[in-house]
Amino acid sequence: MKEIADIRNEYQLAALDEMTVGDDPIAFFTQWFIEAQKAEVDEVNAMALATCSAENIPHTRIVLLKGLEEDEFVFYTNYNSSKGKDIEYNPNVSLLFFWKELERQVRIQGIAKKIRPEISEAYFHSRPPGSQIGAWASEQSTIIPDRTVLDDKYAELEQEYMGKRIPKPEHWGGYAVKPVSIEFWQGRASRLHDRILFTRGNNPSWQKARLAP
Ligand SMILES: Cc1cc2nc3c(=O)[nH]c(=O)nc-3n(C[C@H](O)[C@H](O)[C@H](O)COP(=O)(O)O)c2cc1C
Repeated sequence: MKEIADIRNEYQLAALDEMTVGDDPIAFFTQWFIEAQKAEVDEVNAMALATCSAENIPHTRIVLLKGLEEDEFVFYTNYNSSKGKDIEYNPNVSLLFFWKELERQVRIQGIAKKIRPEISEAYFHSRPPGSQIGAWASEQSTIIPDRTVLDDKYAELEQEYMGKRIPKPEHWGGYAVKPVSIEFWQGRASRLHDRILFTRGNNPSWQKARLAP
């Protein structure tokens, strides 16, 4: 077993330059995402979502990217969860993908907004029935006395909705994150990684810059 301090990898699979990324970071993200899928990256659509609470405490957790709609990054969750409350207070969020197999990282900063309920509805009904019941059974982020609360609630709802269409809970749905900055990171040898940052703030057009690693 290695000492934690001795665990390190050299990155040397690829390089990234200003020409290759082009001028449209969404198009480039899509290209990298396809490459990550082709490389069979595990949990390729898993991304760390960072939010900030009303007390100015940052919180990070993994959620799944479920679409790139009109250049916005969509994920689904419980609107009453801790992250939902954070976003209501402060819609500035950050997303992060780490595609280890390709030695790549993508950091996105943006503004999260609830998507239209019809879109959440359509996605909700595309999920397996078990997940649909799960959305009803779990008051996400609240303290529960023990596991049986969940299992009992699930069993009760399973009976209730047997053979019926399960409605989408009001409190469940998607957020779309409109990016204001996107950074592409490609690991390189000797820690001299490539970092290309796109920013646009409130402007429609993207500015591109290279950052020191
Ligand atoms: C691989 C993976 C995928 C996940 N996907 C989601 C997701 O899409 N939506 C979600 O609400 N939680 C997802 N979770 C659970 C969250 O990480 C988190 O535990 C939950 O959303 C509660 O977070 P909160 O209390 O900060 O709101 C996922 C966890 C993992 C490890």
